[in-house]
Amino acid sequence: MLEALDYDSKKSDDASDEYCTQVSRAIRTMSKLRCAPRDSNFGAVVLLFLVVPTFVVGIYLHGQKITYFLRPLWESPPRPFKDIPHYYDENVSMENLCKLHGWGVRDVPRRVFDAVLFSNELDILAIRWHELYPYVSEFVLLESNSTFTGLQKPFFFAENRGQFEFVEPRLNYGTVGGRFVKGENPFVEESYQRVALDHLIRASGIGDDDLLIMSDVDEIPSGHTINLLRWCDDIPEKLHLRLRNYLYSFEFLLDNKSWRASVHRYRAGKTRYAHYRQTDDILSDSGWHCSFCFRYISEFVFKMKAYSHVDRVRFAYYLNPSRIQDVICRGADLYDMLPEEYTFKEIVGKLGPIPHTYSAVHLPAYLLQNFDKYKYLLPGNCKREHG
Ligand SMILES: *[C@@H]1O[C@H](CO)[C@@H](O)[C@H](O)[C@H]1NC(C)=O
Ligand SMILES: *[C@@H]1O[C@H](CO)[C@@H](O)[C@H](O)[C@H]1NC(C)=O
Ligand SMILES: *[C@@H]1O[C@H](CO)[C@@H](O)[C@H](O)[C@H]1NC(C)=O
Repeated sequence: MLEALDYDSKKSDDASDEYCTQVSRAIRTMSKLRCAPRDSNFGAVVLLFLVVPTFVVGIYLHGQKITYFLRPLWESPPRPFKDIPHYYDENVSMENLCKLHGWGVRDVPRRVFDAVLFSNELDILAIRWHELYPYVSEFVLLESNSTFTGLQKPFFFAENRGQFEFVEPRLNYGTVGGRFVKGENPFVEESYQRVALDHLIRASGIGDDDLLIMSDVDEIPSGHTINLLRWCDDIPEKLHLRLRNYLYSFEFLLDNKSWRASVHRYRAGKTRYAHYRQTDDILSDSGWHCSFCFRYISEFVFKMKAYSHVDRVRFAYYLNPSRIQDVICRGADLYDMLPEEYTFKEIVGKLGPIPHTYSAVHLPAYLLQNFDKYKYLLPGNCKREHG
């Protein structure tokens, strides 16, 4: 034991000798520097007062971009989904549609429950509920007077409930008081609200094998998708929905990779409302996810502050209304971030603004039926109102 200790201290003596040598060598080099001709002295000054600060400021401004660009090196992609091919045409019978998917057709459709946590997205909610109305038995909506980031907000739905009279007979509405804990991770408030939503879903009378749609308000399953799932037997217990991913409006189709929305055959005591990966199965081309699809610039500012990723607002000027308007019309990124992808090929492929889409074919019907009201969501109308 003693020997071992001795050995160790000897080793550290050696190490400090080595350190001494290095330091004296460095001092000698530095004194040489001091006596060196003016040129290299000047070089050192430039290094100290120009290159180093530029580097530090560069990291501060673009550090996020550097880490995102290098993502393929530090993070491996999530397990791939098992895509279920999706067959649909309005003129094919339900029996044949179910058969195409390898499922049987039922005599009576399942009941469908659509449950959402509501923040302030009134227009998107109207489009969603009209799209799903023919197929949904009960609409469940919960809202809080707190954003996920703990900011106070009005009960926007309650204030505008009059606009949604058409769902009243099927509406299960609830509110929950925010906890308003300062400096807490936004995901804590979010999961608290999801638990409250579980209670409201139970109170709405759901039973075993009813279908429960779990998705954010802006993740809209297409009506025919929900119709298929309620009519076919043998569908998976849990199924993610692959949605077309739009940003700001249906003019900017980012990709087809939105996957968080899911449909569950409800099991009492087991099914929990969640918004993460729950299974490998995903049904292709099942609807639309329209992120940041707001009418007013002020709603963009509200969302950027209320969002669970509020840390992305790194500079105050990100919230400047004319900057936001400019970003929307270009299809650029509100937070000036790089795409979140896992291969260099995909990162490079998505660099720069999202290309414009000029197709408004296969969009929610209610949107096109009321284009006067929802023009800002359609291609060619990126200018937002102030208010
Ligand atoms: C759909 O089917 C109906 C009759 O079942 C037919 O009259 C109609 O033309 C069909 N529509 C299309 C687009 O094929
Ligand atoms: C939030 O709502 C709850 C009840 O819904 C209420 O008790 C509480 O006072 C509200 N808080 C604020 C800050 O508005
Ligand atoms: C997404 O899917 C649709 C229909 O399947 C296709 O038309 C479109 O090109 C796809 N878009 C992207 C960006 O992959």
